[in-house]
Amino acid sequence: MNNTKDNIRHIAIIMDGNGRWAKKRGLPRSMGHRKGAEVVKEICQAAGDAGVKYLTLYAFSTENWKRPQEEVDSLMDLLRQYLKSDLKELKEKGVCIRFIGEREMLPPDIIKNMEKLEAETANNDKMTLCIALSYGSRQEIVHAAKKVAELVKRGDIRIEDIDEKIFSDMLYTHDIPDPDILIRTSGEQRISNYLLWQLAYSEFFFVEAYWPDFTKEMLNDVIEKYKTRERRYGKL
Ligand code: IPE
Ligand code: IPE
Ligand code: MG
Repeated sequence: MNNTKDNIRHIAIIMDGNGRWAKKRGLPRSMGHRKGAEVVKEICQAAGDAGVKYLTLYAFSTENWKRPQEEVDSLMDLLRQYLKSDLKELKEKGVCIRFIGEREMLPPDIIKNMEKLEAETANNDKMTLCIALSYGSRQEIVHAAKKVAELVKRGDIRIEDIDEKIFSDMLYTHDIPDPDILIRTSGEQRISNYLLWQLAYSEFFFVEAYWPDFTKEMLNDVIEKYKTRERRYGKL
């Protein structure tokens, strides 16, 4: 495996700190989410300019459903608008848009627009923007385990055939390379149920800025630091 450090294929980001950004300014949390959504376009563009082929953004976790209904509703409204505005714009720019997560949990009108956007951008090849929505990594792994069990039950494979390749083929990210870089904003240092399988050998970067304050300069700074890291994959 020679995934040289100058060849960054995939960056995953945990976009955290919208609520605190708003609170610091005496604004409602929803304003933080709004401002946070505005940043996505710029970061997607900057990642593309840096030659990154996949950008995966954590937008809403399976655990985020437990937030107060008012906040969940305002996030769904924002998503509704976002699907019609900025994501459409990214589509015109040649970005392939994908969603990972338990989409059945989302409102039907949103699912419909997500699927439409996925179909319309399926052949775009500038880069792939993958949005983790109603996403939880443990849920994804359990879902994959059930699919593997189904294959065995149908007699398509034997238990002895199950390997890492077959298992990862059952994940939502089956056709996306593992992230080279994970970035979490807002100073928190945890994974919060994000891409547990896929991040096995990613390089982690924790950035103090809240997500609405995250800039392309900060992204480029992470990329520069990444280039100085040594990825050993357990070898010498
Ligand atoms: C991240 O910002 C966005 C979502 C989880 C939807 P938060 O809403 O978690 O903001 P903080 O962490 O409370 O500041
Ligand atoms: C993780 O952030 C989920 C997203 C950024 C979408 P959270 O704010 O929900 O995570 P915790 O609760 O701080 O671990
Ligand atoms: Mg948070």
